[in-house]
Amino acid sequence: MTEEVILRVKDLRTYFKTDEGTVKAVDGVSFDLHKGETLGIVGESGSGKSVTNLSIINMIPSPPGKIVGGEVLFMDADLLAMPANKIREIRGNKISMIFQDPMTSLNPFLRISTQMTETIILHQGLGKDEAKAKAIEMLKLAGIPAPEKRIDQYPHQFSGGMRQRVMIAMSLSCNPEILIADEPTSALDVTIQAQILDLMKDLTARLGTAVILITHSLGVVAGMCDTLCVMYAGRVVERGATDAVFADPKHPYTQGLIKSVPRLDVASGNRLSSIRGQPPNVIDLPDCCPFYPRCDKAMDICKRKYPAVSRFDDGRSVACWLYSEEKLP
Ligand SMILES: Nc1ncnc2c1ncn2[C@@H]1O[C@H](COP(=O)(O)OP(=O)(O)O)[C@@H](O)[C@H]1O
Ligand SMILES: [Mg+2]
Repeated sequence: MTEEVILRVKDLRTYFKTDEGTVKAVDGVSFDLHKGETLGIVGESGSGKSVTNLSIINMIPSPPGKIVGGEVLFMDADLLAMPANKIREIRGNKISMIFQDPMTSLNPFLRISTQMTETIILHQGLGKDEAKAKAIEMLKLAGIPAPEKRIDQYPHQFSGGMRQRVMIAMSLSCNPEILIADEPTSALDVTIQAQILDLMKDLTARLGTAVILITHSLGVVAGMCDTLCVMYAGRVVERGATDAVFADPKHPYTQGLIKSVPRLDVASGNRLSSIRGQPPNVIDLPDCCPFYPRCDKAMDICKRKYPAVSRFDDGRSVACWLYSEEKLP
């Protein structure tokens, strides 16, 4: 990880108009991604992780969705203000993606060779044979045995874990600056999950790719990420270096999440704690801290106003009134 910022997300807001009201799926998300950094975005289901990811690459289905505010600066160009043909050049080339279910990204009717070489030819301008050689090399790096043979097979001839390896090979074949992986291992068995995460970590470190890893699992971010953003109800409530956040979580929500992770180093027999209550509905949320109904440390102000963001010496930022020096009315 270097000091160079390659992606700057500034006050991103993405809303969906529904019959029930406006869903503020992402409501003021900001973070920086540095060259070679692996950033985790964690939070419960519905907290806005996938919508953040889709907004970054300007792929929000509209209607019903709309990016109503913010900037996404990729090497100083705003992806949200770019014409469609320019962003298409960046997507899948400079910024590539992996989703939970590789079958949604792989075409079941085409051989792996066709799918991989097409993108390589399109984005890298290689000839057909060179592109195939590159594809085989990537499959080999991704741990696919006998890649020269398997490249001519169809997606259904691969197991779930092997398909995800193919996706990783495919998504890294154009040497992207950024890989966005949205729950890449959530559909896999636990043992396979660990292998796939190890592979992703190893390959992206070798290629110097920055990663945004989206997951509901703190266990996954702990092993993979340099930094993390904890999302709650469409906002980032805590952001910082992974080690610092785990050692001393500041936001009561982060504290609750960490306490609910099973640990091998703590005597068994202790019950795991869980955070009481449910995540809020993000339709027509009032201007308060959305976590206050579930928070043991809630104060009167929490019910009246969304917390100001406090910054700490270790680079952490936390949106919680407990740490705010702002004078309360
Ligand atoms: N196409 C859509 N139409 C309406 N609401 C949506 C749509 N896509 C996502 N949402 C809402 O946006 C919120 C955030 O969703 P999402 O980003 O998918 O959460 P997650 O953190 O689980 O990835 C949820 O409340 C979800 O219901
Ligand atoms: Mg999601």
